[in-house]
Amino acid sequence: MFDVNEIRKDFPILQREVYGKPLVYLDNAATSQKPRIVIQALTDYYEQYNSNVHRGVHALSMEATDKYEEARHKVAKFIGAPKAESVIWTRNTTESINLLAMTWGRDNILPGDEIVVTQMEHHSNHVPWQKVAQDQQAVLKVIPLTKEGTLDVSDIDSYITPKTKLVAFCHVSNSLGTINPVKMLTKKARAVGAKVLLDGAQSVPQMPVNVKELDCDFMAFSGHKMMAPTGIGGLYVKMDILEEMEPFMRGGEMVLEVWNDRATWNDLPMKFEAGTPNIADAIAMGAAVDYLSDLGMDNVRKHEAQLTEYALTEMQKIEEIDLLGPMDVDIRGGILPFHNSEIHPHDLGTFLDREAIAIRTGHHCTMPLMRAMGLVATARASLYVYNTEEEVDKLVSVLKDALRYFGDGAKRAKRTR
Ligand SMILES: Cc1ncc(COP(=O)(O)O)c(C=O)c1O
Repeated sequence: MFDVNEIRKDFPILQREVYGKPLVYLDNAATSQKPRIVIQALTDYYEQYNSNVHRGVHALSMEATDKYEEARHKVAKFIGAPKAESVIWTRNTTESINLLAMTWGRDNILPGDEIVVTQMEHHSNHVPWQKVAQDQQAVLKVIPLTKEGTLDVSDIDSYITPKTKLVAFCHVSNSLGTINPVKMLTKKARAVGAKVLLDGAQSVPQMPVNVKELDCDFMAFSGHKMMAPTGIGGLYVKMDILEEMEPFMRGGEMVLEVWNDRATWNDLPMKFEAGTPNIADAIAMGAAVDYLSDLGMDNVRKHEAQLTEYALTEMQKIEEIDLLGPMDVDIRGGILPFHNSEIHPHDLGTFLDREAIAIRTGHHCTMPLMRAMGLVATARASLYVYNTEEEVDKLVSVLKDALRYFGDGAKRAKRTR
């Protein structure tokens, strides 16, 4: 049985008050809250079997190694990866994409090749590819958007061409909520022999994601957005590509044999995990995946879609704000960006904060998108599985108070796009 009020009890932080009022946490796209079993997994590791992995013959080290690798298996299963070795632990989505850019990108993208990204990419899926394009004398192309905030694929064949080596795009946009047409873009990429990188930072936490079904070559994701601790994330790479990739960092753990002048590499995935890894957080990510799997990702998505629909309906009634992104919840995640041309989003965010409502304001690490929309910043509420209709009502009610407080200016605001 899916009961939000029961789920909320699993998250200690949701019981706290801010300024003497119950916390309304609507900043989930930035980072999610953590259930007790994740916090407990961290404590268990440090209290019961804190030890380094892979190199010890003593009981604690073997226990830590088993749990660490078990967590990798859980994460691999969760994203539909055929083999656990195809999931490399990283710190987060940003590190995953940089790893890929500095290894596969540098070795496979050659002068004159094209890399395709979209106008809605997070900086972490845009800036690394700028660097690869500059270094390799390749061309970076950016698929534009429609005014609804979806990809404008009307001229897609002029973006994805026989020169394309990589198509890199977010599954769900953190700034618009848009769910992108992965299968269509992947098919286009395949037709010209290009590889596909999916930025799963926002999708893996909120919907069933299966890399095999989606047929992407690479997928990056962050643990902290899916109930795991900060500092742990993953990069999925198709096995045949991973086997050919050069190591990212060199040092302990990733080597098989070392001589004075050369070295050979360890098996996958250790080849990509130089140095002592983030053991505790990886194990806790396994616990987060257990928790989400117990809820059922279909249920997580269903709840999010229902709550998003409700929020969109209520927020659309507020005349003074523009809601950004597609209005159809079939192609939208639980991300609710809004804007009033006369009030700075930070002012709205600060007003909401005084009522214990946590949202995010700013460019959300998507400055090229903001520029394309003619905006500097937006306010963004983002939902997760523990949010309720009552919390959306509170957001709407306090937002109305804010608009009243900031006065006539808000009423004069008009669409800027
Ligand atoms: C779509 C998207 N990609 C990438 C990132 C970067 O994630 P991280 O900061 O965990 O590396 C984020 C974070 O907000 C995101 O929303």
